[in-house]
Amino acid sequence: MSSRLVTEIAGLKLTNPTMLAAGILGLSGSLLKRMAEAGAGAVVTKSVGLKPRRGYPNPTVVQVDCGLLNAIGLSSSGIHSFGEEIKEARKGRVPVIVSIYGYSPEDFAEVARVAVEEGADALELNVSCPHVEKTGSEIGQNPRLVAKVVKEVKNKVDKPVFVKLTPNVAEVAVLAEAAVKAGADAVTAINTVRAMTIDLETTRPVLANKIGGLSGPAVKPIAVRCVYEIHRRVEVPVVGCGGIATWQDAVEFMLAGASAVQIGTAVAFEGLDVFKSIAEGIEAYLERMGFGSVKEIVGLSHKH
Ligand SMILES: Cc1cc2nc3c(=O)[nH]c(=O)nc-3n(C[C@H](O)[C@H](O)[C@H](O)COP(=O)(O)O)c2cc1C
Repeated sequence: MSSRLVTEIAGLKLTNPTMLAAGILGLSGSLLKRMAEAGAGAVVTKSVGLKPRRGYPNPTVVQVDCGLLNAIGLSSSGIHSFGEEIKEARKGRVPVIVSIYGYSPEDFAEVARVAVEEGADALELNVSCPHVEKTGSEIGQNPRLVAKVVKEVKNKVDKPVFVKLTPNVAEVAVLAEAAVKAGADAVTAINTVRAMTIDLETTRPVLANKIGGLSGPAVKPIAVRCVYEIHRRVEVPVVGCGGIATWQDAVEFMLAGASAVQIGTAVAFEGLDVFKSIAEGIEAYLERMGFGSVKEIVGLSHKH
């Protein structure tokens, strides 16, 4: 991959602007390392909390016409047993961003402290999971709570802090502004969109949790709009996420204002080659259009 693709987000050096999104194969250090080896410029782990959490009963993930619907319920064995996975992931030689969640600002800060102690290069605060009570978007829909969480985490750690936002609000840019004023180094947009599906034969909602989060191609235009609105309002880098499966999707997000892109559902559908094929496609686009660096296209659509 060429130097055209090299970029920097909140002090993290990326060989190309693709990243693995949180929650897709991100609980295993060896899989995270494989993503890096397959071409991801950085990897984000599955969201991890302070204590082990079982998550919801099955079914937790179902395929719908235009993507995936999931309500996994933030299952993980907790940050205290995640250190080995972080260490293994770091062998992939790309930044390892540990996604964390908590039930209070203090909770978030403690998970962040341990994650950094275990080797996290940066943190992504999941204040946007749409289907778990007392955390995720229950915190992340309130700008004042978002600010409190960010401040508490920034007081505890000296690594870059990304804040991952929910689209399930009237004005996502207001949340971004609150996060940045409180010290966020970057903003990721978006997490999944609250959604559900119902089985006609059993007449039941399909997910055990009934309501879950929609990802994949259906959410892409929502995510592009969120990135566009956020880029207008804040100075920090925006990381675009939601329905990205091709280089064209990635370039669209960058034109909207994303400095890098995260890929989730497409990794599940298409496998690990997706990072390399997207990065190569972006590179060919830059060359064809006469851009010397990927940084030159960030936010270009705002000029019109
Ligand atoms: C199965 C699954 C699990 C996910 N788990 C997490 C998670 O633990 N933390 C988080 O912040 N986002 C999680 N997400 C959301 C993704 O990181 C991403 O924001 C969303 O799926 C949109 O991107 P995509 O369309 O590329 O998948 C999950 C998504 C899926 C499909």
